[in-house]
Amino acid sequence: MNNLNLELSKLSDSRKDAPNLMGGNEPINLITPDQLNNPPQKPQLDPNVVARVQQEVALRDTLHNIKKTIVVQSGKGGVGKSTVTYNLALAFARAGLKVGILDADITGPSIPLMAGLEGQYARISNRKILPTEKDGIHIISMDLLLNQETPVIWRGPLKIAAIRQFLSDVKWPPLDILLIDLPPGTSDEPLTVAQLFENVSGTIIVTTPQKVATHDVRKSIGFATKVGMPILGIIENMSSLICPHCGKSIPVFKTGGGKELAEKLGLVFLGAIPLEPQVVIQADEGQPSILAESEFSRAFNSIAQKVAKLLQIPLNS
Ligand SMILES: Nc1ncnc2c1ncn2[C@@H]1O[C@H](COP(=O)(O)OP(=O)(O)OP(=O)(O)O)[C@@H](O)[C@H]1O
Ligand SMILES: [Mg+2]
Repeated sequence: MNNLNLELSKLSDSRKDAPNLMGGNEPINLITPDQLNNPPQKPQLDPNVVARVQQEVALRDTLHNIKKTIVVQSGKGGVGKSTVTYNLALAFARAGLKVGILDADITGPSIPLMAGLEGQYARISNRKILPTEKDGIHIISMDLLLNQETPVIWRGPLKIAAIRQFLSDVKWPPLDILLIDLPPGTSDEPLTVAQLFENVSGTIIVTTPQKVATHDVRKSIGFATKVGMPILGIIENMSSLICPHCGKSIPVFKTGGGKELAEKLGLVFLGAIPLEPQVVIQADEGQPSILAESEFSRAFNSIAQKVAKLLQIPLNS
């Protein structure tokens, strides 16, 4: 024991029985030489927690540029979520809004293909990913970040990490509306998006008319309610086929299932989208202009008006 420690040890012993001058009966606890030599370690910060906090901050920073966020979802696959997301974005852009799409389908992204951005990569500036602009829509998708020939096979936790990462690394321009295209179902991606976007303005549920679809779609309605996402309404896609010869409407998958479901659940019915053979060409070749004067486009313009009204966004037309 060195001199200082010896003195401290004596002092500590001599004060053990000293009265507490602060008024209490408890003896005063003096620091012991042991404590002096081994001060308590500062708690180490968990690097995962630090990274998570940094991501949250970056995310908040990038999202403050976005006025409204709409999530497009459905419990069912292949009912037209991506088609609705993309064409609704086009309708908003035509009406003069600044629009973005976040393609949150990590394993099966389809928005870049629909937009004619196949084979392109997003630009990176100052370590931030810049959304790729096409036809007035700012798009971010896994397809714009990875080699598109490589299938993305990720387990749940990795998918969640990827969504968090690529959301916090994107630098969005100022947007009136960001549309988020979700993969089918109510699992990892929808939940992550719901957690990350605390203030989703609303969700649009897409269904096709037949019972098989509307039954599954109820799950996404339940999900939205559970995570507190306001439901803007239901869209019935592939509602009927307008015969290109006689102009009559043919109910290929029956018709009216989406409207019925909305009425049953007390939700807004946003509109019916017809089956339009040209859509497949648009989706495969990324040519939105071929749909400019169709029943299909008019249906989207009408839905865009309704959604804008619900969210109190002024439109040009
Ligand atoms: N109204 C429509 N008229 C004609 N074809 C359509 C229509 N809506 C969607 N399609 C076509 O149906 C297919 C599936 O559409 P889409 O990819 O939008 O569905 P999805 O619900 O996003 O699918 P997934 O669950 O795989 O994400 C595409 O080939 C698309 O072009
Ligand atoms: Mg899709």
